[in-house]
Amino acid sequence: MENIKGLKRTGYCAEYDIKDINKKVVLMGWVNRSRNLGSIIFCDLRDRTGLIQVVFRHESNKNLFVKAENLKAEYVIAVVGIICEREDKNPNIKTGDIEVEVSELRILSESAVPVIDITENTSTNELLRLKYRFLDLRKPKLQQYLFMRNKIAKCARDFYSENGFIEVETPVLTRSTPEGARDYLVPSRVNQGTFYALPQSPQLLKQLLMISGFDKYYQIVKCFRDEDLRANRQPEFTQIDLEMSFVDIDDVISINEKFIKKLFKDTLDIELDIPFLRMTYEEAMNRFGSDKPDLRFGMELVDISNLVSSCDFKVFSDACSNNGSVRGINAKGCASFSRKDIDKLIEFVKDYKAKGIAWLKIGTGNEITGSISKYFNQEQLKEIAHVFNAEENDLIMLIADKNQIVYNALGALRIEIAKELNLLDSNKYNFLWVTEFPLLEYNEEDKRFYAKHHPFTSPMDEDLNILYSDSGSVRAKAYDIVLNGEEIGGGSIRINDSNFQHEMLNILGFSKEKAEESFGFLLNALKYGAPPHGGMAYGLDRLVMSITKTDNIRDVIAFPKIQSGACPLTDAPNVVEAKQLDELGISLKAKKNEV
Ligand code: AMO
Repeated sequence: MENIKGLKRTGYCAEYDIKDINKKVVLMGWVNRSRNLGSIIFCDLRDRTGLIQVVFRHESNKNLFVKAENLKAEYVIAVVGIICEREDKNPNIKTGDIEVEVSELRILSESAVPVIDITENTSTNELLRLKYRFLDLRKPKLQQYLFMRNKIAKCARDFYSENGFIEVETPVLTRSTPEGARDYLVPSRVNQGTFYALPQSPQLLKQLLMISGFDKYYQIVKCFRDEDLRANRQPEFTQIDLEMSFVDIDDVISINEKFIKKLFKDTLDIELDIPFLRMTYEEAMNRFGSDKPDLRFGMELVDISNLVSSCDFKVFSDACSNNGSVRGINAKGCASFSRKDIDKLIEFVKDYKAKGIAWLKIGTGNEITGSISKYFNQEQLKEIAHVFNAEENDLIMLIADKNQIVYNALGALRIEIAKELNLLDSNKYNFLWVTEFPLLEYNEEDKRFYAKHHPFTSPMDEDLNILYSDSGSVRAKAYDIVLNGEEIGGGSIRINDSNFQHEMLNILGFSKEKAEESFGFLLNALKYGAPPHGGMAYGLDRLVMSITKTDNIRDVIAFPKIQSGACPLTDAPNVVEAKQLDELGISLKAKKNEV
């Protein structure tokens, strides 16, 4: 192997074009592909900017030609040469008008035959690709995702610092606090038997920074949550986190709309209209069955409980008399769905705990048929069709159950059908603030309330009088920002009074002692002049997903984890040596299947 002594790169491969003809260049990169035509070798040289064709001719330099015959895919080389105009132009690459006539070649590093195909659009098994992530990341597409991630992070830094926010780092080794997801724990060697927790978010620390008087804080920060993974979740993810003092909801929303506007201008050159639409949680649930509705299409939910509460179909009347409801959506033009299609949708809603779908088709001549038609006369069916604005060829799908199940199932069904009907236009960016979330959620299993956002969120002033009498109906000063049906961020105005924070923890079932033990440092700090404050956090990974239009969070993270939380590249988490455990005073229990 050779070295680069005496050579200095003149630029990146794809920076050159027809204007550079006759320029002498020094380029370095990877062999993307090499074709030996007998007397001429064409080699595509690749770096992070793209490809350029470099040429070796037998007639010009025999020794050089023989050396170039050794080139294989993914070898790392340096070439010195002159930019020339190409005879057979390649419109598919940026440098397709030019090539480099090489006068010197150095082979800087050889490569084993790559285990995965690095050319674009291959469907090699993802696990293998993650094991060889360093190779997979050579793909231009994956590099583009990370370039975009960098641009978004830079835009956030520029915006918030230009607007008076200062970036403060908060600790990664912190304390475990109850509520929220499961923590990742780190054992302490010095204080054996005690554990740090990795932060689920810097929530309490950013509140302390407000109490310290920093006024406006932001941080691009790693967060850790030991929860079940989904397509848009990783155990280790990144937030753009911020907090502001002396503000109310509108102040937080307004500055963040300006950020999103700048972000979309800088990254996609899209001019967004602000302010964004706002919708209360209640309205979002009633109209879309979701607290993160996708507004790129309609298909809104309709409540027909009052029409069917005393009908002969027991599933409907029972749902209504058991505090539930009967709601549905109108899938326009879908009367042609077969029984098999509908059965598939019925299976789909079962994942959301719905027992089934009752359906009606509006046929030719507006005749209404369907799974529940025998329970109603044509007049009643017409009335149902009327409230859905249903016309010939439409398919009405109805679900009867407890409200939460009806919302969840119909909300998901609405998206599923929109996908099928190609209604999700990826060039549309529909932003929405969802506001007035419930402060508390009752958990039937534990028979207690949980904070819907987190326990430090302030209730709405209008609802303070029902805090104890009707806790479940209290609304919070909490807001989420939703883009095309994805929650990209959320936040709230916080409680800034120690006594009231105590009260809130009490409602959440914490005794005074337990509250002191878990949150004593916050409760104490709140006694020393805590300004009114609030903020929010974006999921950076989700923002990058939206802007790059990928639906796999792993695409936008350099070294992501898989479903089980493992990293196939480094094989983390791994077994550690007995000596390390000994130093930590930890002994392992036998695994269940070894007992
Ligand atoms: P929240 O828990 O809503 O709020 O998180 C804020 C945003 O972070 C993103 N997010 C995730 N992204 C990827 N993987 C995950 N596992 C994951 N979990 C959350 C989402 C979400 O909207 N401290 C509060 C914010 C505040 O009140 O200021 C918080 O963490 O996009």
